[in-house]
Amino acid sequence: SLPVPNVQQLASSSEGVPVRYIRPELELERVSNDEYDRIPLIDLHSACKDWGFFQVINHGVAEEVILKMKADIQEFFGRPLEEKMEYAQLPNGIEGYGQAFVVSEEQKLDWGDMLYINAQPINRRNMRLWPSSPSSIRASLDQYSIELEKVARSLMTSMAKNLGVEPEKLLDLFKEGVQTVRMNYYPPCEQASKVIGIAPHSDGSGLTLLNQVNEVQGLQIKKDGKWVPVDPIPGAFIVNVGDIIEIMSNGVYKSIEHRALVNHKKERLSIAAFHDPNVDAMIGPLPNLLIKDPKKQAPNYKSISHQDFKKLGRKMKLDGKNKGL
Ligand code: SIN
Ligand code: FE2
Repeated sequence: SLPVPNVQQLASSSEGVPVRYIRPELELERVSNDEYDRIPLIDLHSACKDWGFFQVINHGVAEEVILKMKADIQEFFGRPLEEKMEYAQLPNGIEGYGQAFVVSEEQKLDWGDMLYINAQPINRRNMRLWPSSPSSIRASLDQYSIELEKVARSLMTSMAKNLGVEPEKLLDLFKEGVQTVRMNYYPPCEQASKVIGIAPHSDGSGLTLLNQVNEVQGLQIKKDGKWVPVDPIPGAFIVNVGDIIEIMSNGVYKSIEHRALVNHKKERLSIAAFHDPNVDAMIGPLPNLLIKDPKKQAPNYKSISHQDFKKLGRKMKLDGKNKGL
């Protein structure tokens, strides 16, 4: 190559900068000093630790899969009541078409109906309670369920690493994991400000992926004592840490209280996919995490079986965030 001066030597000489180094066009370029003109910083750890909620787009799930699911569930809720009642919840069961768990006569009720199904593993599906019309809804649900499980596992891989745990230690607990899908329909309400679509609660799941089906706002999360509304972005997933991941992270990640309001004029729909460990998993702080983080050596939560956890959850979920955990 052609010989050029040594720059370090040049810099220490008193000759000044030779013209060959001067680039006049630089003065014409504008550099932004604007706060908002920075490349995005995506901090998954702080999202899970400080918020417990974040919204993700370009997550790898094909747009058609989401659009088909949304179209089919919208159509299902639009069908006549008699038809939907073919998939009605069985007495004492939560699965099927109906309403969220009601445990007492005095309990205030949520302004919303739902279709709740077991999606994974496949042997837990009760096809009696899976609608067969519109004709593509079963295939849509199947696809949606498979794709969302992939997203959940991939997020959990990163979360485990951020917690200083080998990903397998977390992923193994979610192998053959239980996935349920709750599709919510909130009709408009003329007294919208006096009712609530889903009362404040934290999710009893591991990781929830929520899609807000239409553009109607309603979801709010509790942050520093205030309700923060979440903008609906139709192709996005709202990811939230559930009670189980809070426990497994020994409280480093937070399962945040949230609620859904209803609209005066417009119906609102959402689809929540809950990702839980397999039925045999123990639910407790991950031991490997406790070793890595000296400040968190002592477990802040008891370890119990998945089944016992589910029984407890139902009793405690009634009003606000679980207190017994
Ligand atoms: C939920 O908390 O499960 C649903 C919230 C929503 O409808 O946006
Ligand atoms: Fe929820």
